[in-house]
Order: sequence, then structure tokens, then C-alpha cells
Amino acid sequence: MRIAIVGATGMLGQPVTRELIRAGFPIRLIARDVAKTRTLFPNVDVVSADLCDGETLRDALVGMDTVYLNLSIKQGEKQSDFHTEAEGLQNLILAAQKAGVRRVGYLSSIIMRYQYRNGRRWWVFDVKKKAVELIKASGLPYSIFYPSCFMESLNGTQRVGPFILLVGRSSVKPMYVAARDYGRQVAQSFLIAEDGQNQEYSIQGPEALTQHEAAERFVDAYKKEKLGIVTAPPFLLKVGRLFTAQADYGWHITEALNHYPEVFESQKAWDDLGRPTTTIEQFARSLY
Ligand SMILES: NC(=O)c1ccc[n+]([C@@H]2O[C@H](COP(=O)([O-])OP(=O)(O)OC[C@H]3O[C@@H](n4cnc5c(N)ncnc54)[C@H](OP(=O)(O)O)[C@@H]3O)[C@@H](O)[C@H]2O)c1
Repeated sequence: MRIAIVGATGMLGQPVTRELIRAGFPIRLIARDVAKTRTLFPNVDVVSADLCDGETLRDALVGMDTVYLNLSIKQGEKQSDFHTEAEGLQNLILAAQKAGVRRVGYLSSIIMRYQYRNGRRWWVFDVKKKAVELIKASGLPYSIFYPSCFMESLNGTQRVGPFILLVGRSSVKPMYVAARDYGRQVAQSFLIAEDGQNQEYSIQGPEALTQHEAAERFVDAYKKEKLGIVTAPPFLLKVGRLFTAQADYGWHITEALNHYPEVFESQKAWDDLGRPTTTIEQFARSLY
């Protein structure tokens, strides 16, 4: 199976790409910034294309069996902007159909199912739900993954200098997963996928932890530098969201993270794709 990857330079795209390479698949990376992508993956085929441009995408996908998508909506994006998981995904699906691609793999998320109180909606979760619908309606066989929190966020999107930033204190316990374990599961799903078969997997790690428990264990185990945890009061984001798109994004994602009642639902993924084993401590030590 020849696999094209869009989003290989991303925080989660990088470890997943490494696992797909390690699993022995012939890989082509489709990227906007070819030089940056070649620096990260020196011995891999890299082709220039942009999700804004259907023609470049079709050319880049010719000869590929599967395309794996690691896309995101960035903090600061506005609802009226171009979104890779909306218009970009529509371009990608058309290009994949024309190029004869036979499978779409897509990183979604568990938390996009969160129901805001009083029936309110958040456009970001609506885009992500629509993305799943678009893929399912495309007629292309699919492998869709719905992961819990990634450990990488502790050292990525939640890091502010030498601190991990948490907002409020929640008792809900996501099952944090390392992207390397997830990458191995993605590779396994592609290995076992039969022609035309659709796959959907919830992805959860070995332990259920509150965000504070995960952050405290990460800080204790990460010896590369001294880190601390800052717990901001939620009302700061509530006020800030009136003024900036970034704070509005932060408020919505925090609300969902702090309240989504995650339960274990990954038995099928563990049985079919292997069980994630990386603990927070092992993840922290893998970074230095
Ligand atoms: N963090 C978590 O705990 C968590 C949990 C569950 C699910 N997820 C999901 O994980 C995803 C985020 O993954 P990530 O952190 O790896 O995202 P990311 O770092 O933002 O990476 C996005 C990738 O998309 C590429 N890209 C952006 N615009 C493009 C365009 N027009 N054409 C082609 N490529 C384009 C970027 O390439 P450039 O290098 O050119 O910018 C980058 O490689 C989200 O969908 C999120 O819902 C996250």
C-alpha cells in the first residue's frame, strides 16, 4: 500500500509519519513547504501541493493507494476563513477520486462530540463532524480515528515557556495516548484493511488521568529542564473571548476538555491494532 500523508510536519503528523515509515510502507509526503518537510524527513519522497489547490493535489496523489490526513483548525482561525478540514477536505476528496486513491485515513477526535450546555454549538466541532460526514459520503473507503488527549499536547500546545498551562481544575479523566503508539495503530489498521472495508476506531491510552495528574507526572519525569504548572482561572478566558478569536477558541476547547465525560471505548482498537503502552513518564523521557 503506497501512502500519501498530508500534514506530516504537524505536532502529531511527525510521529505518525515516522511510524508509517518504520512499518515499511512506501510513503509520499504532500506538503506546502517542501524544504521544511525534507529537513524533517530527509529520505522520503516529498511533493509540493496545497489543500487550497485541487490540481496540485491531484498530481501529487497519482500513484497513491491511501491518503492519510493530519489536519487542524488553528487557534486564531475565524469561522469565515478557509479551513483545511472543510474546503481543503473537499478539494482533497475530489483530487483523490480523480487520482484513483482507494482509501482515506483521517485523524479526528473524541472530544468533538462534546455537547455544550444550553444547546450551544462551537463551529470548530461542527467543521470536524462535517469532515467525517464528507469522507463517509465520498464513496472512498475510509479509516477514521477518534483519539483522546495526546501526551504531546503537554509539551506542545499547552506549553508556555517553562510552564504547562491548565485552565481550571477538572475531575474528568481522559485516557492520554502517545502519538507514537497511535502511529503504530494507524500502521496496523492499514495493514489489516481489506479492499473497500471501512474502519472507525476510538483511540485511548493506557491510563485515565485528570489533566493535573498528567501534567504533574510529566513535570516530575521531564528532566531536560525544570517545568512548572500554571492553573489559570476559567473566567480569564471567559472575559478574553469577547475580545480575541484565540481566547474564544481557548474557552471552547477548555470547556470541552474539562467536562467531556470520557469513558473507555477502545477495546476494538486494542484488539485489532494493539494496545498503547506508553506511560506519561516514558513519554517524558523519550523527549530527551
Ligand atoms: N492535541 C490533542 O490532544 C488532540 C487530541 C485528539 C485529536 N487531535 C486532532 O489532531 C489534529 C491536530 O494535529 P497536529 O497537532 O499535528 O496539527 P498541526 O501541528 O496544526 O499540523 C497541521 C498540518 O497541516 C498542514 N497544513 C496546514 N494547511 C495546509 C494546507 N493548506 N495544505 C497542506 N497542508 C496544510 C500543516 O503544514 P505546514 O507545516 O505547511 O503548516 C501541518 O503539517 C487536530 O485535528 C485535532 O483535532 C488532537
